[in-house]
Amino acid sequence: MIAPSILSADFARLGDEIRAVAGEGETRADWVHVDVMDAHFVPNLTLGLPVVQSLLKATDVPIDCHLMIENPDKWAIGYAEAGAYNVTVHVEAAHDPIALAKNLRAAGAKAGLSIKPNTPIEDHLETLKHYDTLLVMSVEPGFGGQSFIEGVLDKVRTARRLVDTGHLKLVVEIDGGINADTIEQAAEAGVDCFVAGSAVYGAEDPGKAVAALREQAARVRG
Ligand code: DX5
Ligand code: ZN
Repeated sequence: MIAPSILSADFARLGDEIRAVAGEGETRADWVHVDVMDAHFVPNLTLGLPVVQSLLKATDVPIDCHLMIENPDKWAIGYAEAGAYNVTVHVEAAHDPIALAKNLRAAGAKAGLSIKPNTPIEDHLETLKHYDTLLVMSVEPGFGGQSFIEGVLDKVRTARRLVDTGHLKLVVEIDGGINADTIEQAAEAGVDCFVAGSAVYGAEDPGKAVAALREQAARVRG
């Protein structure tokens, strides 16, 4: 699956930018990735619930909310209630991630847990049993256009193994620095869903970029 991140889109034309990856066929995104940043958990500020509510009205592509915010225990639920398909919180920010996952699911969303590049996965395996999505960060969260951190692929391999052996039931998602040069190694490590910001919205034709990335990943995963 390919999830274009609108962090690299033109914020004055978000509806058009999403429509560019919401056509029919291979140019259609599987999810649209929306980065919510609060200038506290990360040193950047983007958008919040009112904008997400508008985006939900503007598209039928499932919205994947990546909350880079403090106290997601309080704020994440609103995104689930609004109709986001998947709501991802950071394990480094959540106070009670298991209760949070239950609340997100009860509100009708998939529950996602994200781990920063230096956060080990081993400490959170019990917690991950309550989640639907694992978002492995392959850059320090906060900004688009950074270089891919290859070292996080060990965490992807661990997650892949645990999913394939039935110990976890998760979509393995990766976020940061995914482009034509890096997607194949991520696919080889076992990623299911690839977030791509600059590689999609920096391209001449975002829809074609979605199709090309998906084809590259599918070739590797077989
Ligand atoms: C970074 C965000 C990413 C970002 C990725 O904190 O979580 O979703 O948009 O951008 P690229 O694909 O350009 O690294
Ligand atoms: Zn993101």
